[in-house]
Amino acid sequence: MPPQTPIDSDLPSPADAGARAAQLRAEINRANRLYYIENAPELDDAEWDARMQELVALEKAHSELRTPDSPTQRVGAPPSGGFEEVVHLVPMLSLGNVSDEDGLRAWHQRALDYLEIDSASMVCELKIDGLAIAVTYRDGILVRAATRGDGERGEDVTANVRTIRSVPLVLEKDSEDDAQTLPDVPDVIELRGEVYFPISKFAALNAERERAGLQAYVNPRNSASGSLRQLDSGETAKRPLDMFFYALGYLENKGEGNARDEARSEAGEDTDKGLASHWDLLQAVKGWGGRVNPWTRRAETIEEVMAAVADAGEIRESLDYGIDGVVVKIDSLALQRRLGYVGRDPRWAIAYKFPAEQVETILKAIHVNVGRTGALTPWAELEPVVVGGVTVGRATLHNRDEIKRKGFREGDRVVVQRAGDVIPQVVEVAPGNRRSADSAPYVFPDKCPSCGTTTIQTEDEAVTRCVNATCPAQFERLLEHFASRGALDIEGLGERVAQDLVRLGFVSNIADIYRLSERRDDLLELDKMGEKRVDNLLDAIESSRSQPLPRLLFALGIPGIGSESAEWLSRRFHSLNGLKEATEEELLAIDGIGPVIASTLVDYFALEQNQRLIDQLIARGVDPFDDTPGPSADHPANGVTFVVTGRLESMSRSEAQSRIKTLGGKATGTVTKKTDYLVAGADAGSKLEKANRLNIHVIDEEEFMAFLDRGLIPAAPGTEPPGE
Ligand code: IVH
Repeated sequence: MPPQTPIDSDLPSPADAGARAAQLRAEINRANRLYYIENAPELDDAEWDARMQELVALEKAHSELRTPDSPTQRVGAPPSGGFEEVVHLVPMLSLGNVSDEDGLRAWHQRALDYLEIDSASMVCELKIDGLAIAVTYRDGILVRAATRGDGERGEDVTANVRTIRSVPLVLEKDSEDDAQTLPDVPDVIELRGEVYFPISKFAALNAERERAGLQAYVNPRNSASGSLRQLDSGETAKRPLDMFFYALGYLENKGEGNARDEARSEAGEDTDKGLASHWDLLQAVKGWGGRVNPWTRRAETIEEVMAAVADAGEIRESLDYGIDGVVVKIDSLALQRRLGYVGRDPRWAIAYKFPAEQVETILKAIHVNVGRTGALTPWAELEPVVVGGVTVGRATLHNRDEIKRKGFREGDRVVVQRAGDVIPQVVEVAPGNRRSADSAPYVFPDKCPSCGTTTIQTEDEAVTRCVNATCPAQFERLLEHFASRGALDIEGLGERVAQDLVRLGFVSNIADIYRLSERRDDLLELDKMGEKRVDNLLDAIESSRSQPLPRLLFALGIPGIGSESAEWLSRRFHSLNGLKEATEEELLAIDGIGPVIASTLVDYFALEQNQRLIDQLIARGVDPFDDTPGPSADHPANGVTFVVTGRLESMSRSEAQSRIKTLGGKATGTVTKKTDYLVAGADAGSKLEKANRLNIHVIDEEEFMAFLDRGLIPAAPGTEPPGE
């Protein structure tokens, strides 16, 4: 044992130390909660410091006492080499948005129609402009915090989030009263919320950064993100980050003490461990010590939501964080679950976005960019101007027609707008704009600015295209897209590197990047590419070989194939080779794939150069298989055709159809000889008669549910159900 220092000799024995540490922790946690969450401090700074110092000393002397939930851990952990990847248990998706009352009504009505109900209470929350994180508590203790990342995978920023004072390290009930009324803290709960950088502290941070010779952050949101992604959490600890919780990510309760819930759930009630609504959840989180935005309110009608939106607009300026709208959520968690998701957006929530901020500036010049599919997109070089909290020097002009229609000329004074994340746009020529004598209408180039090929403009599209399949600019964009985060996620292969690789002839088709490791020495000659960068790039390329099939399909940049359709294709064809052979008919049979995409795909794979590309990718070890989630591929409903008729007890017809499709089945509206099952609910009419006439297997709701939920194939009519 090392010699004991005088300080240690003053300290209590291990047993006493444990008890004392527990007491200090409880006192400090309580003080933090009163200070940061409830705004009602109890200890003064000196009292707080004294307790903290004593606890630090105790933990130093008895390292076994240093637990991750100790408030001393808020000071930050030693620098890490990078963040670990976290696969979210439940994807962190985005939100659809509307910008007027009609849009809001339409959303609400769609949800009601889907559920076949007449009303559904809502909760309105401020839409905070920060960054989303997911915080997991196991047995009430903060065990993990992760950024959103691409929604599927984020970064493990636990050490950094622990430094945020308003994030409880321990969720617990605070008082006797709470113990009576609040649900217990679940065994495992993942809560989601927004981390933000207070506006009042933002200017000071930037001033400090400039003094230190560091680049200023463009807005509070970027500084929140920068602060949270510090490799040294001691740095994060110095930043005044704050957070609000606003959603449930995941919940698990296996422990005892849930007899009441178990009984209720056996009786078929939806208990959610005592959390029946989003509102209840927020109250519970507050009661357990989490910070929930105090503005949050319930609404029964769209009028009430509109009043809330108006109110949020009024208080906006007085808040110490940015908001860009109001998030409206269906309150009942059971209804939320039934509503589910469409694409990446929940059906049960919507963002009502405030109108975009507009400012005037000078349009200095119009440039044209060549996109991945050859589209020529004009953009405006602007006199830099601050709009929506960000300095903007470039904005999109959409297309050739837009310039003509709005009459933009170089040198004009124009109105520019930016809404949240959206790319800045030039809205119109500013009223009162004066033109000089040499001002002239803009002439759109009729040659590709990259390869000089004469462009074409199709009648139906407002798009001007370069149709040269070997146009270098298009290929640069494709390469960039291939490597982007939602695609194969090859870090280090961004705009500049893609440009260099193409222009210097290192790659002339995508598969070439998988041979770059043979040219490491040449790569080292590239501008700004040291050993470390080159090796990181090569490593990233190497590991991209094992990305799942849907990502690869999306990465190929086939027109019309987004990440969602890529998943459908992956689920149906399982491999590149499988998809390559797909016929238009097979493609059309996939729900969501229409004639345009089907024929684009067939054309794509018919082209010899694309076939060669696929073969090369496979030959170079890029040949992933389907990994799409869910039981779909092997669920017995896969490939089976259903017609749902009559009224179902447990769900609406649209919901039933959507569930069938998710499992890979087909849900049609007409009974034909190809129908495998007719699901007959109450008061089934002519479809049931027709099914009987055609000898179609008719099943009731119970059989249908067993089929969906447990994969139990209904027994053929006239036979006994198989024994257990
Ligand atoms: S709920 C599936 N509530 O907005 C719905 N999001 O555009 C999950 N955000 O990624 C989000 N305030 O970062 C929700 N009160 C709020 C929010 C909020 C801000 C952010 C969040 C999300 C983004 C979606």
